[in-house]
Amino acid sequence: MAKKVCVVTGATGGIGSAAVRQMCEKYYVLVSDINQEKIDAKVAEMRALGFEAEGMVCDTSDRAQCDALAAKAASMGEVAGVIQLAGLTPGFCTHKDLVSVDVMGTMNINEAFFHVMNGGCIVDICSCAGHFMPQDIWPVDIFELALTDKQKFYDEFNEYLEDFGDEETATNMAYVWGRTFIYWSVRKAAYAFGRKKGIRLLSVSIGFVTTERSMADLAATGADVDERLGVQISYTAFGRPGTPEEVAFLFDTLIDERNSYLTGTDIYFDNGCDANDYSGQFEPFDPSTNPYDPSK
Ligand SMILES: NC(=O)c1ccc[n+]([C@@H]2O[C@H](COP(=O)([O-])OP(=O)(O)OC[C@H]3O[C@@H](n4cnc5c(N)ncnc54)[C@H](O)[C@@H]3O)[C@@H](O)[C@H]2O)c1
Repeated sequence: MAKKVCVVTGATGGIGSAAVRQMCEKYYVLVSDINQEKIDAKVAEMRALGFEAEGMVCDTSDRAQCDALAAKAASMGEVAGVIQLAGLTPGFCTHKDLVSVDVMGTMNINEAFFHVMNGGCIVDICSCAGHFMPQDIWPVDIFELALTDKQKFYDEFNEYLEDFGDEETATNMAYVWGRTFIYWSVRKAAYAFGRKKGIRLLSVSIGFVTTERSMADLAATGADVDERLGVQISYTAFGRPGTPEEVAFLFDTLIDERNSYLTGTDIYFDNGCDANDYSGQFEPFDPSTNPYDPSK
């Protein structure tokens, strides 16, 4: 029987590479990112391991390229999974780039694949940053524009970010509010994806997962990297960062059709940081705020 298809965007990045490797075990994988040479190398690496994989460049900020990616995936077979990892981080782009890729790009991928999937599961990458802002201050009136008028949404969302101050602040805010938007939009869209096409739609909010990019992001803050990482992992239950392979296994589990009732929600993959009240804290976790000792 022909293998079902799984598509990974941002597939040559740190988490993307692990996701490709994991999904190749069961699926015919479409490797997508923006650099042809890196895609070719990843596809060759998978084929050398005996797996079935194809590659295709897709800049997710461009809807026509997303439609072409979806058409290519559908030509390979039944699309069972999409893992949307394409994304930018502050310090390496402008706020408009970030909105174009993280926000508009995620919607582009979801909507392009809506047309070619019947059943299956789309997983959008989110972040613990998507949970930093209390819901009562969310700009929901702007978010809702995304459902009816994308250009107006893009313009008003950028204006909203620019009101926070200089470009550096606007870009940081673009990441936080962009991830908040993904958290909001996945929950908002799941009903339509489910009722019209039987597609499950999920987001995964990642805490700190060690990749070249996440380490570069820490360095770009200008803070001491070990110190800053130490603060973040002090909030985790296991006292360490996550690995790309652990996230990849989660994606595999979520896309598995035996999870057929799971949709419209966010999976918090942060090893307990949020439970310990981590939300952009700059001080290490104070265990005295949680004095529970199960051994007593
Ligand atoms: N690593 C973490 O701790 C962490 C935490 C929270 C969220 N995330 C998010 O998870 C995703 C993967 O993280 P990573 O650490 O592997 O980062 P990464 O930078 O290694 O991977 C991101 C990939 O997206 C690709 N990309 C950028 N712009 C694109 C575009 N316009 N179209 C298509 N692809 C594009 C890049 O080429 C890159 O391969 C990112 O979206 C990141 O923001 C990561």
